[in-house]
Amino acid sequence: MKSLKWFSLLVIVGLLLAACAQATPAPATGGTATGEVEVFSWWTAGGEADGLAAMQVVFDEKYPDLTFVNAAVAGGAGTNARAVLATRLSAGDPPSSWQGHAGQELIGTYVAAGQIQPLNDLYEQNGWLAVMPETLIPLISQDGNIYSVPVNIHRANVMWYNPAVLDANGVTVPTTWDEFFTAAEALKAAGVTPLAMGEQWTSMHLLESVLLGSLGADAYAGLWDGTTDWAGAEVTTALENFQRVLSFTNSDSSTLSWDQAAQLVVDGDAAFTIMGDWADGFFVSLGLTPGTDFGWAPTPGTDGFYQFLSDSFVLPVNAKNSDGAVAWLTVAGSREGQEAFNPIKGSICSRTDCDPALFDEYLQSAIADWSTDTVVGSLTHGVVANDAWKAEIDTALGLFLADGDLAAFQSALATACSSSGACQ
Ligand code: GAL
Repeated sequence: MKSLKWFSLLVIVGLLLAACAQATPAPATGGTATGEVEVFSWWTAGGEADGLAAMQVVFDEKYPDLTFVNAAVAGGAGTNARAVLATRLSAGDPPSSWQGHAGQELIGTYVAAGQIQPLNDLYEQNGWLAVMPETLIPLISQDGNIYSVPVNIHRANVMWYNPAVLDANGVTVPTTWDEFFTAAEALKAAGVTPLAMGEQWTSMHLLESVLLGSLGADAYAGLWDGTTDWAGAEVTTALENFQRVLSFTNSDSSTLSWDQAAQLVVDGDAAFTIMGDWADGFFVSLGLTPGTDFGWAPTPGTDGFYQFLSDSFVLPVNAKNSDGAVAWLTVAGSREGQEAFNPIKGSICSRTDCDPALFDEYLQSAIADWSTDTVVGSLTHGVVANDAWKAEIDTALGLFLADGDLAAFQSALATACSSSGACQ
């Protein structure tokens, strides 16, 4: 009887331990893993693909018994890749690890669907909490569990330009939207496209910059927690600015990828483009020199604001070759991996201990701004709105791009905030 009681107690303790282990599994270090590691991303353009390849070199050196399989799917901002990933996940066929944005994209999608595992033990083993920014951890955590390994910080609100085109047309870099409109009129009159834009996600990227530049950081942040009224007059003004900015973009935008739009600036066919700082990686991959062949500035009205996003990697539930996936995550979170990747990718490290001397002039300015600016999150790249909300905004944007009905657009945006639950 006594021994039965002890036995039951042992079983209960065992079950409890198993339950704990399930909630927070202890990932292996990946040190002895073999086989293939399939890493899924959308890094296929110049700069981003090169950055991934540089991190792969670190991985191959550290884990010679593992085979890195690059499963990147082309399409900026993950528009195609995320659809392919969703199909694979519903078929029970996850890659070993995939790229996901810190913030609502991660928490509202993959964590909500129970598709990824907590990585707290990996953080402890690698001492990552001491070297990752405090602002980032809450965006990749839920209920005390940390769900991804951020490999970088990107800035979304950057306006890139061709200095020779500006000089030739007597245009200086605008710091407000009104200044931009004056410059754009002059450029247009001279037969230059003022602002290069690509397919629809790049117009959402433009929209978030115009919202930030028109509303300011506090009111922009308030769009995502219900404290700024989407139906209010200041949003109307911001959307009017957006509509006017659109009138200065290339007419073939819907057929161009982000890097093809950036190429218009390189070629001198356009003066400006608004794109995240992966454009720096793209320009440098073409052999261009920052500060000479291309210039940059915060998008109009956003000086002092850092509209950020972060690419991170996850460990799927039922990962194929989970030890191999952990090996990849270990490299992605390491200083060596990040120092190889980010200077080429056109991003700054998510770690706080990378050597700034490895980075080009633009990225050094980003490192400085990241530590002093007011930080807000990107919509297009997964930080502030979950997938459902973002999809509703995207549908409204698509209609607006087609019909230009600003009142209908604003009302659809207000409805999207209500249906998301953020605005009651
Ligand atoms: C973003 C991603 C960047 C870059 C960009 C263009 O969503 O965070 O790393 O890849 O898309 O593809």
